[in-house]
Amino acid sequence: MPEQPETPSRGALIATTVVTPIGPAPVRGARLDEVRVLHGGSLAWEDGTLVFVGPASELPAGFEAVDHQGCTVVPGFVDCHTHLPFVGWRADEFETRLAGRSYRELHGEGGIYRSARLLAEASDEQVLNFCGPLVREMADHGTTTLELKTGYGLSVEGELRQARLAHRLAEIAPQRCLVTLLACHAVPQGRDRASWVRAVCEELIPEVAEASLADAVDVYVEDIAFSTGDLQAVAEAATLAGMGLRCHADQLGDSGAAAAAVALGSRSADHLNHLNGQGIEALGAGTTVATVLPASTFVLRETSPPVRRLLEAQAALALATDFNPGTSPVLSMPEAIAMGCTLYGLTPHQALTAATANPAWVLGVADRTGTLEPGKRADFLVLEGDAFAQVPYRPGHDPVLHTFVGGRRVAGR
Ligand code: NIG
Ligand code: FE
Repeated sequence: MPEQPETPSRGALIATTVVTPIGPAPVRGARLDEVRVLHGGSLAWEDGTLVFVGPASELPAGFEAVDHQGCTVVPGFVDCHTHLPFVGWRADEFETRLAGRSYRELHGEGGIYRSARLLAEASDEQVLNFCGPLVREMADHGTTTLELKTGYGLSVEGELRQARLAHRLAEIAPQRCLVTLLACHAVPQGRDRASWVRAVCEELIPEVAEASLADAVDVYVEDIAFSTGDLQAVAEAATLAGMGLRCHADQLGDSGAAAAAVALGSRSADHLNHLNGQGIEALGAGTTVATVLPASTFVLRETSPPVRRLLEAQAALALATDFNPGTSPVLSMPEAIAMGCTLYGLTPHQALTAATANPAWVLGVADRTGTLEPGKRADFLVLEGDAFAQVPYRPGHDPVLHTFVGGRRVAGR
């Protein structure tokens, strides 16, 4: 059952500060920092849609505004890279890695294959009972739109089941969810890579498209997973099926995946820890959004991606959690934003644009959400503190007082 709304979808507020990126998305290079800051700003919304964003003195008549003194209002966070739905944690692998084993070494007994086994063993109800509280916790941390991915199915039937579970999770989630098919996440055990890629392109993608089970297709390009040739085959099948492309690129090593993703018109190239100079140039010139996932960098103690050089090259940047039980058991966008600032050197306002307007473009919903402007859905947050910098400045502290989706309060504290 969808969450019961706690407030009507018509209202207004005044806050000490209102901050929003300025579209159109995707916002590139230096423009990520050029947000609109309204001191003493206000919002008004009707039927779930923003009808006014501006100085409190100009708030249209007929609205009774709630006054959030000392608070900052921003667009709701858009988490454009998560691996929900999954079931079960892998804390023992975390401990094993701390003791010196690598993520690559655990790929088999552990890693993606382990989560695939856990998913296969669980009933649909067990999976939804595990994931429901997690998406609600994400809403408490300010996520108003999120991506759900497959990738732990590892068979045609398994992937279809996970995509259907994603849709059932979307029904109970307080946020808006978009589903991505990551059938090329790991080569199913006992199967050769080429035959699996063929099955994905010839059977799975057409079936998923026919049943509208996903909006985009993702490929994990890595020496332990799939090649840039596989990415190209999947891109062709996705285009034929009318689906967007995404790519896990250059996370554990440099495979030239980011440049390949740009050449294939991928909406995003994600991770980028080992991005090479050609990839930086390609992302600077192309339409693909460079999506950085600092929580998985932190958890794996990976090299940081060349974020400053990407921005200098005029790339569009997005920032997401990569929430999954292996490389990023982090579901909080405020935590990812804090890591993006402290580990990657983003300014708070760059991080805000990368957590709202640009990921909305990656998910194909930038016309509806990601900035505060009349005509967009009233997806916004009331944050503690009079500046957005309070969020990355205080990692571990939950700054979200109220989360609104479509003008209704769905979470907060
Ligand atoms: O984005 N690297 C590939 N996929 C995930 C990890 C998945 C897992 O370990 O279960 C990632 O980091
Ligand atoms: Fe991922």
